[in-house]
Amino acid sequence: MRVAGRTVLVTGASQGIGAATAEAAGAAGAHVVLVARDGDALNALAERIGRASVLVADLSDAERVRELGERVLAEAGVPDVLVNNAGVGRWLFLDETPEQELAGMLALPFTAALWLTRALLPGMRERGSGWVVNVNSPVSRLPIPGATGYAASRYALRGLTAALRLDLRGTGVGVSEVVPGKVSSRYFANNPGAQERIPAIARLIPTVPPERVAAAVLRAVTAERAEVVLPWQLRAFELAGRLAPGLTSYLAWRTGTHR
Ligand SMILES: NC(=O)c1ccc[n+]([C@@H]2O[C@H](COP(=O)([O-])OP(=O)(O)OC[C@H]3O[C@@H](n4cnc5c(N)ncnc54)[C@H](OP(=O)(O)O)[C@@H]3O)[C@@H](O)[C@H]2O)c1
Repeated sequence: MRVAGRTVLVTGASQGIGAATAEAAGAAGAHVVLVARDGDALNALAERIGRASVLVADLSDAERVRELGERVLAEAGVPDVLVNNAGVGRWLFLDETPEQELAGMLALPFTAALWLTRALLPGMRERGSGWVVNVNSPVSRLPIPGATGYAASRYALRGLTAALRLDLRGTGVGVSEVVPGKVSSRYFANNPGAQERIPAIARLIPTVPPERVAAAVLRAVTAERAEVVLPWQLRAFELAGRLAPGLTSYLAWRTGTHR
């Protein structure tokens, strides 16, 4: 699906991958709808992009996400492309994760993507065109020790992506998953303690800038790709995980964090 002249909604657009994706979509000729909590950052970005509107929303609460869906339809109409990118989550063992924080990391990315997609899907189906991109983590297919709630949310997002893709076959609405390795955003500063838990084996995979992930998101839409995993070293690791899951799990455990 082409992006020029279309409406692209990006969650988590105030910084990092979301901001870069919004800029790239704007540069490609889209009208961009920017969603996050930090209204100042969104307004500054909207000014830079030009063809952009801002919807400030906290996506950690399912009721707020449903309200956002209604606001999107009322103020911007049914988007052509929905990029579910907003995400949080420190890397913690299950029983060391405070309850509220655990609920927060399940809400973002997973339930926010679930409810927002559900709100916008009927309009896409009725129109017979649309594209949903879920930005996911390598931990959605290669679990690591000491990131249990984070992994559960990412595996759930992966399940949502795969199930939706099947449901929507032949409707004109497509679904992509974009899975970057480590990205040089402020994610690890925003979620302290996570970086220290990256298994040593994963440090062999080079870090990519948010702009490269943004390009991958647009490529997923324009080339109608089911899945984009980047960089290629992560792709190779992921393939190894499919062929020899016992080996990659052992390496993640052996070189990962222990209590
Ligand atoms: N960085 C990496 O290495 C990496 C690698 C693979 C996948 N990812 C995934 O990619 C996605 C984006 O990551 P990033 O690196 O760009 O992270 P980031 O720099 O920390 O940005 C996170 C974005 O999510 C938004 N957000 C957080 N809580 C929110 C809430 N309650 N309601 C609405 N928006 C909220 C933030 O905006 P506000 O604070 O303004 O609300 C921000 O725009 C995440 O799902 C992450 O897991 C990241």
